[in-house]
Amino acid sequence: MGTNPLILKKRLQLTLLSPWKKDFPALNEVSADLSPGRLSYLDSAATCQVPEIVIANVADYLRAGQGNAGRGMHGLSERATTVIENCRQKVAKLIHCNSEQITFTKGTTESINLVANGLKHGITSNYSILVTQLEHHSNLLPWQQLCQQTGAKLNVLPIDARGNIDDSQLDMFLSENCALFAFTHCSNVLGNQPNIQHLTDSAKHFEVATLIDGAQAISHDDVNLQQIDCDYYAFSGHKLYAPGGSGILYSKDHSNLEPLLLGGGIVNKTTIADYELRTDSLRLEAGSANLVALTGLSSAIDYINSIGYGAIQRHEQALVTELVQRINNETSFDIVSSLNSKNLVSFFSPKYHCHDVASLLAEKKVAVRAGHHCAQPCLQAIGVKHCLRASFGLYNDSDDIAQLIEGIKEIEETLA
Ligand SMILES: Cc1ncc(COP(=O)(O)O)c(C=O)c1O
Repeated sequence: MGTNPLILKKRLQLTLLSPWKKDFPALNEVSADLSPGRLSYLDSAATCQVPEIVIANVADYLRAGQGNAGRGMHGLSERATTVIENCRQKVAKLIHCNSEQITFTKGTTESINLVANGLKHGITSNYSILVTQLEHHSNLLPWQQLCQQTGAKLNVLPIDARGNIDDSQLDMFLSENCALFAFTHCSNVLGNQPNIQHLTDSAKHFEVATLIDGAQAISHDDVNLQQIDCDYYAFSGHKLYAPGGSGILYSKDHSNLEPLLLGGGIVNKTTIADYELRTDSLRLEAGSANLVALTGLSSAIDYINSIGYGAIQRHEQALVTELVQRINNETSFDIVSSLNSKNLVSFFSPKYHCHDVASLLAEKKVAVRAGHHCAQPCLQAIGVKHCLRASFGLYNDSDDIAQLIEGIKEIEETLA
């Protein structure tokens, strides 16, 4: 059972502590930028810190000797194969699918590119692709390129000024010989979650394939792919408390996909003139696997399971509520993120450039993200050029919020 966050009454103000913060050396020992002082790390939507248990497991793996999977009969090579296949099973269990449906990549971006590239052979100018205006560039540019290369039409479901998808044209776009509908599970700017079940079911009704970008949802949502029943789901290990370098692509059926990369480990037979690909999902994983990343991912999944998504959600939701209140009550900044956001708060002020504010906050050891967050069409729709984003992980607490708010207040005074 997950541990509940400890709530203390302190001078009539509720203070949220994190029972998990002690697990993260980067936030307890040497701070991330090596300068003295307490670090308020509020950039987990970009990448999460890594718990000690994951670091220790990765170190143990390396200490025992690394091997290259599937390429040798010796113990270290066999162990590497076991690491990969164990990790595949853990990922499959986490998102409720079969391990043969999991392909490892280096991140969400590569997973989406793999699908866009992998379907290209079957797309002509008679087809269309559908995306939404809420997307991160990783779930937009690969589809733009696919359409540019094949002559297919790119349709876009617009969003309103609050980031809600306007689905009044959904059926019309899906019926336009649509080959695939790609949409996000959770916006990295606004934190809102489209009704992915409705979008997937609507696409299925028109026999349109679906790809869901799960990069932001995976750290706080129990993703059940048996229930959602999309065709592809993509996410990254580093947004799930694992080290960088692992990405996941779920494919309900990978047989349609051409590999993104060609090379070792993906063929049944090769002659000097030609090659015959394997039929299992390993045909999509050419080259040597990133064993460090996959060892870390396995361990991070164990860590998440030991806490439980319910506890993570309750903790992060309480932090979001507290930060929204404090920004509204104590600063001149406006909130642009959704009221339903589970783990991030985006805010801006027309008086200041967000890069100036983020740089000054960094001097006060507050790490937030600023800019267009690789989602320029989304920002255009909400009428904001750039904004600041504070995003939470399970290690954050009320002191992180206090450090941010004090920092903003001082900056407002300095720049006034
Ligand atoms: C919604 C969304 N999609 C895709 C990505 C790309 O993820 P990665 O850089 O791990 O490939 C991100 C990264 O922040 C994201 O927030």
